[in-house]
Amino acid sequence: MVSVASFFDLVEQDLNQLTENVKNLVGAKHQVLRLAAEYLFEAGGKRIRPALVLLMARATSPSGEPTEKHRRLAEITEMIHTASLVHDDVIDVSDVRRGAETVNYLFGNKVAVLAGDFLFAKSSIYLARLGSLEVVELLATVIDHLAEGEMLQIKNQFDTTLAFDEYIEKSFYKTASLMANSCRAAAVLSDMPEELCDAAYNYGRHLGIAFQVVDDLLDFTSSTETLGKPAASDLRQGQITAPVLYALQEFPELSILIQREFKLNGDIEQALDWVKKSQGLIRTKELANQHIKQAILAVEKFPPSPARQAMIDLTDYVLKRVF
Ligand code: FPP
Ligand code: MG
Repeated sequence: MVSVASFFDLVEQDLNQLTENVKNLVGAKHQVLRLAAEYLFEAGGKRIRPALVLLMARATSPSGEPTEKHRRLAEITEMIHTASLVHDDVIDVSDVRRGAETVNYLFGNKVAVLAGDFLFAKSSIYLARLGSLEVVELLATVIDHLAEGEMLQIKNQFDTTLAFDEYIEKSFYKTASLMANSCRAAAVLSDMPEELCDAAYNYGRHLGIAFQVVDDLLDFTSSTETLGKPAASDLRQGQITAPVLYALQEFPELSILIQREFKLNGDIEQALDWVKKSQGLIRTKELANQHIKQAILAVEKFPPSPARQAMIDLTDYVLKRVF
């Protein structure tokens, strides 16, 4: 078993510095925007995305240390991720995130939308200043994909005809694209050959898909307390995720409940019961496992180093959330 500490150890100091830097970078003229942004970074997420960039930087830079550009890239990924969460909480009408009240709850939807836009804009400025058109394109693509993923998710709500590939595609856009493209960008900043830039991308892509698949599983297996949001909330909102897609194969009647949007008393309980009785949860774990294996194969293309090992350990941490 891998403790979170072991792979964060290598980048722990970098990450502490990162939080401080990000707060300085988002300095805003308008107090309310600054408060909204600062408050978010205080709330403290897991910072997996910048950790990934910093580890990929260590595995690829000649000195074994991240350069200033790598550090800025890590800060940019955290800004983009946070911006997307601010918007996401408006869309999902969420009052709480990471155990703290959300920006929309505290400041209202208008300020939350602007605070998200503001963070995207700031991240674009710092991105341009990295001076690499290729890296600008990679990270701009992420922002495009985040919007695309969120649109797909809205479009697919309560749609029981959703194909498995469409579910994976949505998961890529919403979660894995940021990890894939920022890992690639770290390799690009280290002037890695194309083959290793592809390996970096594939590591982030498979890790990101596994991360989302695990998240979708936790919606069914975790309590409200551990999740920091109501259990089975994805299902209630009509999200058709891997456990549901698998359960539909065994209990086709489940689609009737979903299509009527759980309007009748007991619908949600019955749906949950079918998902839990089906092979859906075990098959979903297996799906996450397959993507983790592919992530490891990709990162093993890099020469051995403590940073490469930390990236392998990180895959264990993603799975450990459910296994
Ligand atoms: C979390 O979803 C949300 C995301 C990973 C991405 C959200 C992206 C957007 C809202 C689009 C951003 C807008 C622009 C302009 C690019 P979740 O609700 O499944 O997870 P949660 O439980 O953490 O809220
Ligand atoms: Mg949400």
